Amino acid sequence: MATDPPDSSATTNTASKVRDIFGRIAPRYDLANHVLSLGIDFHWRKKAVRLMQPLAGRRVLDMCCGTGDLTLAFTRAGANVVGCDFSPDMVELAALKETRLRARGKLPDTPITWRIDDCTATGFDAQSFDIVSCAFGVRNMADHSAGVAEMHRLLRPGGTVCILEFSLPTNPIVRAAYLTYFRWIMPLVGGLITGRTAAYRYLRDSVRKWHENVDLAAELRSAGFENIQAAPLTLGITTLYRATRPI
Ligand SMILES: C[S@@+](CC[C@H](N)C(=O)[O-])C[C@H]1O[C@@H](n2cnc3c(N)ncnc32)[C@H](O)[C@@H]1O
Repeated sequence: MATDPPDSSATTNTASKVRDIFGRIAPRYDLANHVLSLGIDFHWRKKAVRLMQPLAGRRVLDMCCGTGDLTLAFTRAGANVVGCDFSPDMVELAALKETRLRARGKLPDTPITWRIDDCTATGFDAQSFDIVSCAFGVRNMADHSAGVAEMHRLLRPGGTVCILEFSLPTNPIVRAAYLTYFRWIMPLVGGLITGRTAAYRYLRDSVRKWHENVDLAAELRSAGFENIQAAPLTLGITTLYRATRPI
């Protein structure tokens, strides 16, 4: 669905609000994630990594990397990965996780580069990655169309974008049950774990708005991607998108 470009001061305000939200919940973000998804989030990231195989030696940019779970999963699969996020608190935790995993011999030698930057306008060279991934990040970008355009700019021709994003189940009974969980239980449990109920109300509202207003497959097409695939995961509560930059 085509939308007008957002007003730039509104975009800056939204971006700093989002950065602030993630900065505040960073210390308990992983725990809240795994509890709220009943651990299924590991499976979604594994699926994304599997879809991108083979990965040995490939250059991956993990946009909106947060605490780094997808970045680390790509690294384990042999890729050269850069994890990028504009929240210093989230990136600090990601780097700490890397250090702990390395100390336990759980990662290959390839170093990870962590970068604090706005993923809608990074300073990376054009066409410098084979894969750009983004798990549950594009919806949070104040100007997600700019984010999708940046993904396209950064990929080499023939490169692939891999996006995980929340969606809503199509089956009406499952959707009704999920919405009840999403409206009431998720903000309550997320709030109890992180002490930040407002952050989980933001999550709930952002997913609803995203679902109502954005057709990501159409956005990828209009940014110049082709071979766009959208695979619903776990009854459609998440969708895994894959698309290529034409050669
Ligand atoms: C829901 S978290 C996802 C983190 C991680 N990818 C995961 O799967 O757990 C969203 C992340 O997007 C980041 N983010 C949102 N907008 C961003 C932007 N414009 N540039 C960089 N990071 C952004 C936030 O700081 C946050 O860490």
